[in-house]
Amino acid sequence: MSVTLVTAAYLAATILFILSLGGLSHPESSRRGNLYGIIGMAIAVLATVFGPQVTSAGYAWIIAALVIGGGVGLYAARVVRMTQMPELVALMHSLVGLAAMLVGFANYIDPAASAHYTGAAKSIHEIEIFIGILIGAVTFTGSVIAFGKLSGKIGGSTLLLPGRHWLNLLGLLVVIWMGREFVQAESIAAGMTPLLVMTVIALLFGVHMVMAIGGADMPVVISMLNSYSGWAAAATGFMLSNDLLIVVGALVGSSGAILSYIMCRAMNRNFISVIAGGFGSEGGAPAPAGGVQPAGEVNPILAAETAELLSDSKNVIIVPGYGMAVAQAQHTVYEITKVLRDKGVNVRFGIHPVAGRMPGHMNVLLAEAKVPYDIVLEMDELNEDFPTTDVAMIIGANDIVNPAAEEDPASPIAGMPVLQVWKAKTSIVMKRSMATGYAGVDNPLFYKDNNRMLFGDAKKMLDEVLAVLKA
Ligand code: TAP
Repeated sequence: MSVTLVTAAYLAATILFILSLGGLSHPESSRRGNLYGIIGMAIAVLATVFGPQVTSAGYAWIIAALVIGGGVGLYAARVVRMTQMPELVALMHSLVGLAAMLVGFANYIDPAASAHYTGAAKSIHEIEIFIGILIGAVTFTGSVIAFGKLSGKIGGSTLLLPGRHWLNLLGLLVVIWMGREFVQAESIAAGMTPLLVMTVIALLFGVHMVMAIGGADMPVVISMLNSYSGWAAAATGFMLSNDLLIVVGALVGSSGAILSYIMCRAMNRNFISVIAGGFGSEGGAPAPAGGVQPAGEVNPILAAETAELLSDSKNVIIVPGYGMAVAQAQHTVYEITKVLRDKGVNVRFGIHPVAGRMPGHMNVLLAEAKVPYDIVLEMDELNEDFPTTDVAMIIGANDIVNPAAEEDPASPIAGMPVLQVWKAKTSIVMKRSMATGYAGVDNPLFYKDNNRMLFGDAKKMLDEVLAVLKA
């Protein structure tokens, strides 16, 4: 394949990736967006494999890598449950970081790669290598730790070393010094020492940065690492002089940064302090590891009474959370919605930006159950409607409906905007026990006079509610 043809293919892939991102911005067009992404990636891989940079001697390696990588991807996509998706995403980001690191080292020690460059171009190429390995190493260990925290293999509490900001600053100064040594090195062997020192510091920084971040703030970290992985890919693109990798890396890097910003706003956090790491550990005590003891009396309710309350209502808002995903209750939720709508009840869904365990988690589940998009609303679109709502039904959600976020400045989730379900005439919380949610904080909503607790697995309880509604 000629260089011109490869360039044309890369251009087509770039356009498809941009269309893909556009499509993914709305549930209705997301399938189309995914399809554009798949076609774009297929074109990109084929153009690279059959392009001038790969000789026929390399085909065996590439086919072996495609079979292994594709096999692992296919297996992961089939076995990973929806609730484990953020862990998988974190793990994949770590691979992008690792790849950027390895490509950087390979590029540096490959005599053919460095032979192209002399003078200023050589220095620029070395800076690209240095920055690529730096971002790759931070992304790699940061993502591995994020994976460990999300999968519960590492505790969710924060690790705050004494003088950690000074440690980070010291690390940064050493990295800058090593960068100078690296670019001035006379030979590859001489440059290797500063490169390795920087890599070790970057690896440790990735661990340190994510270990210092509190459990409830992990969603932002995931999307921030997503952004880092994009910049790592873009840096690799510069090293390899691959335009497509630069563009795609920049797309991922900037969309991850925008998503981080949106999530920060949703959780009332400061974007700059996230980027700097160590965030979520100040402004409120970190959540205790085992959660807190519940305090107060609650009013339980039965499934039959819930069904009665729902069918006697004019306006109902359903707030789904992580527990709905665990119980896989979305299909029953929609069955109930249909029955209520047939009875003339106005049923809507209120979606918090960080409900569940990944961005858009609830939207994906509700779309899977075929809930019409026009009754699925964002938090900001219906938060003012709770005072005129008869029943707010909370299905396996906890932190996102916690009034302490608004009422208790000492709460670890203070300042996070929440769905104001307690303003409805009656709120019904469906969960199995009095256990805390992801942030490990007690929820005063449970003890309010107008709140009822429907204890049990969300799917089982909703099946019972549906049976009564249909009877
Ligand atoms: P959580 O606050 O985690 O609460 C979920 C509740 O579901 C739990 O209290 C649990 O109580 C209940 N539950 C679990 N399994 C259930 C089942 N089978 N049936 C019924 N209930 C069940 O969830 P949320 O309100 O959706 O808030 C999300 C939290 O996760 C936030 O703190 C957010 O910051 C964090 N987070 C979000 C993301 C993204 S991007 N969305 C990523 C990582 C973390 P029981 O054990 O008593 O049943």
